[in-house]
Amino acid sequence: MPPMGTGYAEDEGYVSQRLIDYYEARARGGVGLVIVEVTAPDLQCKGPRQLTLGDDRYVPGWQELITAIHKHGAKTAVQLQHSSMENRDGQYIQVGPSSVIVPTRVMGVSGQAPHELTPDEIGQIVQWFAAAAKRAKKTGFGGVEIHGAHQYLVASFLSSATNIREDKYGGTVENKARILVEILQSIREAVGPDYPVWPRLNAQEYGVENGVTIEETKQVVPLAVAAHSLYQRVLMVLFLPSWALGMGAGVLVGQNLGAGQPGRAERAGWLATGFVEAIMLIASLAILLWAEGIIHIFTTEPSLVEIASVFLRIATAGFIIAGLVTVLQQSISGAGDTLPPMIIGLVMIWLVQLPLAYFLSQVTTLGVYGVRWAIVAGMVVGGVAYVIYFRAGRWKRKRV
Ligand SMILES: Cc1cc2nc3c(=O)[nH]c(=O)nc-3n(C[C@H](O)[C@H](O)[C@H](O)COP(=O)(O)O)c2cc1C
Repeated sequence: MPPMGTGYAEDEGYVSQRLIDYYEARARGGVGLVIVEVTAPDLQCKGPRQLTLGDDRYVPGWQELITAIHKHGAKTAVQLQHSSMENRDGQYIQVGPSSVIVPTRVMGVSGQAPHELTPDEIGQIVQWFAAAAKRAKKTGFGGVEIHGAHQYLVASFLSSATNIREDKYGGTVENKARILVEILQSIREAVGPDYPVWPRLNAQEYGVENGVTIEETKQVVPLAVAAHSLYQRVLMVLFLPSWALGMGAGVLVGQNLGAGQPGRAERAGWLATGFVEAIMLIASLAILLWAEGIIHIFTTEPSLVEIASVFLRIATAGFIIAGLVTVLQQSISGAGDTLPPMIIGLVMIWLVQLPLAYFLSQVTTLGVYGVRWAIVAGMVVGGVAYVIYFRAGRWKRKRV
């Protein structure tokens, strides 16, 4: 059952007996999943007689409602919605991405030009959604839907008709979707890896000039799917340190054992290197084959498994290629020559890339954007390291 506003909440936004009776009747009638209607994530954006998850004092009422629905075997979810209206100092004002009036829009519209939300205010709204979703989970809801459809706040960010911003929340499709992505990410962080969270979107806006197009929505959907900070962590946990450990252990241990030593010691070192590299290769091939299984250790959520396993495969393929290039370089430049430049390369790749990637993904705009930049940064730093490695190797050989 899709969310449908009833107006049956009590004046203050509490769950009323009438609301319980209404939803219980739907569950009794055989509905499998009841998605409870538009619910304000915070009291500041709560309309008159609108339900809210903005405070713990609403929880007992919600629990009564959930129990009534569960009694008949139905599942529950709740739709979180910012209507575009906010109560500021006792006055309801229109807020939005830009201060434009679009006559063809009717939902969540007061007629007044909206107050253009500042990045700080947007950040605050994102936190409201995260806190409300956390409360929804604690209360007993089986999932949370983010209202990104119709003409309410999130939808008006997605639409070029209402969003003419020139900062990071406007312009490109990625920018227009940023508030949605940030909401989904902060909710994911608040509720953990396996709790169902999804957005409701307009595929296309009809009758609105410059409205959302189906092509734009096709770009928004993968951004929304990827908007889970967990997949970054999977990436960090498996991808970056596996390179560091693999290359570090394989090459440094082996070469330190044997470098510069005559005869058997050097051979033993190279044997150790070869042994570790062979294990790394086998492990990498196993990861390529069973990426989904490995991601399952961290999450069973299908969308996360899908995207994380793609990244894991790309990372592992990169690792194999880099390993093969390294072996090739070693065989060209000779064993003893390569240790110092190799150390420079490894230190540069890992000591620089790891915190850089972490910084980019956590401190900047987070998530899908951060990971993208982390990967670009990794490739650039890795490329520079390899150039240094090559040049240093040649310089060393010339000197010798
Ligand atoms: C009275 C009423 C209230 C609605 N309230 C909501 C709502 O709270 N949230 C929402 O996303 N859609 C809301 N909708 C839209 C419905 O979820 C649904 O998409 C619409 O009724 C079309 O349903 P259909 O595709 O089964 O015909 C509402 C629709 C009606 C008629």
